[in-house]
Amino acid sequence: MPTINWDPSMTTGVESLDNQHKQLIAWLNDLLGAMSRGRGRAEVSSLLDKLGGYAMMHFDNEEDCMTRYKCPIAAQNAAAHKDFVVTFTALREEFDRTGATAHLVVRVESELLRWLTSHIKRTDTQLAPCVKNIVVQ
Ligand SMILES: [Fe+2]
Ligand SMILES: [Fe+2]
Repeated sequence: MPTINWDPSMTTGVESLDNQHKQLIAWLNDLLGAMSRGRGRAEVSSLLDKLGGYAMMHFDNEEDCMTRYKCPIAAQNAAAHKDFVVTFTALREEFDRTGATAHLVVRVESELLRWLTSHIKRTDTQLAPCVKNIVVQ
């Protein structure tokens, strides 16, 4: 299972958000590893709980930051977070029904891990110039 790691192309200009992204990516990699190695339901379930709660906390923090720094894509970012939560909930329900099937592992990889890293690169990083503007003014 290939893993994705945080790299400097994901810098948002806010260190605490970068640290949260590192944590989310690490746990998504752990989740994929646990699912594809056929770990028990309890282990996968607790990773899903941890990840879901942390993602919600992160989205709240990041949305506050985008509002504070008057980021023009704040609303677009918040809408994308809502989509992620819908997808996450659906995948969580699928796991509860079927366990970690190969199909679910593929979906978690593409719809959570790859989605998150491309969202960070395309959307979250747009916060960086806004942070600079506010600091300079
Ligand atoms: Fe975001
Ligand atoms: Fe983010």
